[in-house]
Amino acid sequence: MSAVLLDITQLNAGYGDMPVLRDVSMNIRAAEIVAMVGSNGAGKTTMLRALSRLIPSRGHISFNGQSLAGATADEVFAMGLVQVPEGRQLFDHMSVEENLQMGAYKRRDQTGVKEDLNRVYRLFPALAERPHQLAGSLSGGEQQMCAMARALMARPRLMMVDEMSLGLAPVVVDLLLETMTQIRSQGVTVLLVEQDVHAALSVADRAYVMETGNIVREGTAKELKNDPEVQRAYLGETA
Ligand SMILES: Nc1ncnc2c1ncn2[C@@H]1O[C@H](COP(=O)(O)OP(=O)(O)OP(=O)(O)O)[C@@H](O)[C@H]1O
Ligand SMILES: [Mg+2]
Repeated sequence: MSAVLLDITQLNAGYGDMPVLRDVSMNIRAAEIVAMVGSNGAGKTTMLRALSRLIPSRGHISFNGQSLAGATADEVFAMGLVQVPEGRQLFDHMSVEENLQMGAYKRRDQTGVKEDLNRVYRLFPALAERPHQLAGSLSGGEQQMCAMARALMARPRLMMVDEMSLGLAPVVVDLLLETMTQIRSQGVTVLLVEQDVHAALSVADRAYVMETGNIVREGTAKELKNDPEVQRAYLGETA
């Protein structure tokens, strides 16, 4: 088995006095696709914000063997922990290519940046066809591609994708999931945060289920697909 890339132990985080995450422990090995699923308000985005150091947290996080205690958002980004935020958060008035360049704004290796631009255009041909189009005028699926491509321009070790499938047609979701497996085959580890449990379990190796800030289930994607409780609560099947 490959080495553990991200290791979280007893992570607690919230907003002001309100706790959201309660003693969350999970890990991700290099080159895995791991899904974190759960309903509205379970705390999934809060977990990503804590990992990206956008909100304070208690507990232990180690990434690539290094503790993130005391690390700033900029530092964890530079270490390769990169988020594709919920709602995509593109720069709407900038072109596709300008958005992609923003992902690489910390990098000084111009040759590598050029190579990566070609690589993301190969992964997302729809973006290659419209590098000068304003991001705000892209379709929902194209916007999601642009957000993922922008994250890849930072050369992430771990790409954390929040609600990739939200508002997209099933055929577009399938295309993005297929691209996700290609991204993994290029050596990027993926954390997929999803309300669409069907979609997430179709590509993930392993998954965690979060309910009200707690991890209530974990296992291989296959184990969770066959878990009667998961089927009842998340897959719309009557057990
Ligand atoms: N900025 C904030 N200030 C205060 N409370 C917040 C803030 N953001 C989220 N919360 C609360 O934290 C809890 C967890 O929210 P979070 O966004 O992490 O859930 P989620 O699992 O990502 O949900 P969804 O699937 O709807 O995206 C919710 O009760 C939410 O209302
Ligand atoms: Mg969320």
